[in-house]
Amino acid sequence: MNEHDSERMTGILESRGCSPVSDAAGADMVILNTCSIREKAEQKFYSELGRLKSLKAANPNLKIAVAGCIAQQEGSNILSRAPHVDMVFGPSDIARLSTLVTQKLSKKCPVVDTAGDPEYHRKRIPVTRADKLKAWVSIMYGCDNFCTYCVVPYLRGRERSRRPEDIVEEVRDLGLRGYKEVTLLGQNVNSYGKGLDDRTTFPDLLRMVNDIPGIERVRFVTSHPRDLSEALINAIRDLPKVCEAVHLPVQSGSSRVLAAMNRRYGREDYLEKVRKLRDAVPQIALTTDIIVGFPGETDEDFDLTIRLLEEVRHDGLFAFKYSKRPGTAALKLDGHLPEVIKEKRLEQLLTVQKRITAEKNRDLIGTTQEILIDGFSKKGGTLTGRTRGNKAVNLPASSALIGSLVRVRITRAGVNSLTGQLCE
Ligand code: 5AD
Ligand code: SF4
Repeated sequence: MNEHDSERMTGILESRGCSPVSDAAGADMVILNTCSIREKAEQKFYSELGRLKSLKAANPNLKIAVAGCIAQQEGSNILSRAPHVDMVFGPSDIARLSTLVTQKLSKKCPVVDTAGDPEYHRKRIPVTRADKLKAWVSIMYGCDNFCTYCVVPYLRGRERSRRPEDIVEEVRDLGLRGYKEVTLLGQNVNSYGKGLDDRTTFPDLLRMVNDIPGIERVRFVTSHPRDLSEALINAIRDLPKVCEAVHLPVQSGSSRVLAAMNRRYGREDYLEKVRKLRDAVPQIALTTDIIVGFPGETDEDFDLTIRLLEEVRHDGLFAFKYSKRPGTAALKLDGHLPEVIKEKRLEQLLTVQKRITAEKNRDLIGTTQEILIDGFSKKGGTLTGRTRGNKAVNLPASSALIGSLVRVRITRAGVNSLTGQLCE
């Protein structure tokens, strides 16, 4: 989501005549687009801000802007900690970026705008995309779920869906410009459509996007397990362009912890949704997020999480140590755990998942997969692409195939990528 916000900022700045540079040392302006989901992201931001101080000392005309969730969270407090900052604006203020820059250029004092724009989700914003084949498309902003550990609803505001006609127009344009894949973005895409006049649902939207010429693949993140409906499962099964891959964050395998997290589903509900998905779409690739060391998480709770991983056998996992976030309900819970316990649990979880991912990847050896070739592999010499299940595959082939969908036989499998050969 932040990467896509950065693409929008670049689009706005380019449309006022700016152009990007590869090194901050040669820039007239640097924007730090920040994340506040965990404390680590925040620490990274403050150390980066410290580095920019010396750059500004060497070039006093350099303008430094702070955007994103930390900007929203801290507002003008950032200026007392870092007086070298010139601009602060939040994630729902991006549409005003050009105006803010003009304001800053005409006055000496810093410009702070974190008021948010209630019409942001209806605005058309220029986008300079980082990729030529695959595009992010926001379909909604904000979140109404208030999971007790999460700062997002406080910083990105209430859930607002973009109008389906605006989304379809954006994707149609991408199809005309040669894009092959879109990823529909939202904190909770399954509840898309709340508050829209025509009550378009997420499966309705998938159907509309599936029909757009030129686009070959449709993905989406993120799905909240509670809102994963039968209609969505059927849409994944029936719509040919919708890839068989779902990121379905479980967060914990313990119903007790899930209740304390305010996730509004239990362990059994999650397992039931996975069963339904797999019954309808047996080849579905599933990934998940887990937080270890949530306040009050016992050894038994953690064991339930490990057992859930063994039972579901996800294709991939993003695991995080619980991190205290300002203003969230979990801060006030009893039983905050020491770092060492969180670290031990994280390591244990990752070890289990690494084995499962390797085994699942190995199961693909000998199968034929559809790959969208998207560029050269980092290792060099080969091309790289993704399966419909979103697994990276390296293969020897001519660069003329970049941007094509090809059939590939998988010959080798590691934890992070697969290797294959083009089918005749
Ligand atoms: N601490 C640790 N992880 C968190 N996440 C969200 N908030 C926190 C937090 N306070 C994780 C969740 C979410 C992912 C994007 O980040 O697992 O799904
Ligand atoms: Fe945060 Fe929960 Fe919303 Fe995801 S669904 S953004 S974890 S509050």
